[in-house]
Amino acid sequence: MTSTADAIIDLDRRHVAHNYSPLPVVAARADGAWITDVDGRRYLDCLAAYSAVNFGHRNPEIVAAAHAQLDAVTLVSRAFHSDRLAPFCASLAELCGKDMVLPMNSGAEAVESAIKVARKWGADVKGVNHPSTPNIIVAHNNFHGRTTTIISFSDDETARRGFGPYTPGFRAVPFGDADALARAVDDETVAVLLEPIQGEAGVIVPPDDYLPRVRALCTERRVLMIADEIQSGLARTGRTFACDHWGVVPDVYLLGKALGGGVVPLSAVVADSDVLGVLHPGEHGSTFGGNPLATAIGSTVVEILRRGEFQRRSAELGAHLHARLAALTGRGVLAVRGKGLWAGVDLDPALGSGKQVSLRLAERGVLVKDTHGSTLRFAPPLVVTADEIDWAVEQFAAVLSS
Ligand SMILES: Cc1ncc(COP(=O)(O)O)c(C=O)c1O
Repeated sequence: MTSTADAIIDLDRRHVAHNYSPLPVVAARADGAWITDVDGRRYLDCLAAYSAVNFGHRNPEIVAAAHAQLDAVTLVSRAFHSDRLAPFCASLAELCGKDMVLPMNSGAEAVESAIKVARKWGADVKGVNHPSTPNIIVAHNNFHGRTTTIISFSDDETARRGFGPYTPGFRAVPFGDADALARAVDDETVAVLLEPIQGEAGVIVPPDDYLPRVRALCTERRVLMIADEIQSGLARTGRTFACDHWGVVPDVYLLGKALGGGVVPLSAVVADSDVLGVLHPGEHGSTFGGNPLATAIGSTVVEILRRGEFQRRSAELGAHLHARLAALTGRGVLAVRGKGLWAGVDLDPALGSGKQVSLRLAERGVLVKDTHGSTLRFAPPLVVTADEIDWAVEQFAAVLSS
């Protein structure tokens, strides 16, 4: 590393809160599927900012929409209308097959907003009122963000320890076990909150009958099914939503990350008006939520998704990625899971930790992220080519055999 990179990493160590442990790569530019560091070295990005850069770094159509909006108006708050918000919400609602959109910023805010909406729906529509206490069912090993309430129902001790007191009202059951979920539902259950495919847990795909059974159970017991598609959605798995793989339509979609085109934070709660209609003026809000810059970008993202090109790319190239990774099973790889251009790879722990393997891959120009000790996640921007995938897998095979 050069003195420029060293100096920045040293400044980071002294002035950036240590809530991350980044690889020693200092990005200066990015384009498509590639990141260039401060010394001009190029890396194939196989993380895509946790799926926030699904459409590629600085996607030209998205960047053009952002530039145009910067020259018009960027923020007016929700105290006034803007000419961008309603068209964005109409097009996103149509993409989801729903009526309404509640725009927010970060993914965690979308999850928090959905929890509030579900409790309010429980009180106003389902009739779960005091002295009854509403409960929301979640899955073990979930990841929905970092707020106090969300970490209250995480079972990752690192995310929780020291941050109590915790928010009550959640019950966790094993992911993929529809019988356990059915047993946990009672008359005070207002929602089931799930990632259709668990991302941070290591790209865990549930059994094929799981989500259809969750859907049927939620309908039967009058419980809202909330699908957190913040990481799994928007073409990542080869379909617009991961739920589409099982023909399941939740009551509420939570979207974020790629919705902001890799340019701005933009998240959303999307549902029908009998659900989102429980919110009235003054009951919820956000200064930046639904701002003109973000929603101009979001409209472009929806337009891109309507064309379907990235869903097709992810499905086709994902099959290629999975075949190439699966060929490494027994050669340092224990298992490969996932859908589309989203793969969780369990490493043989004898080879070292996921972090050590990520470091060795970065030295060879491939950026990936470890999760849960010995799992690596491959999730490149969906503009990646078959040749680039082949090259990345060759670097991975070389690291495994070295
Ligand atoms: C499924 C899921 N939900 C919510 C979040 C939180 O999103 P954010 O980091 O934008 O708050 C994440 C982030 O990784 C996620 O993967």
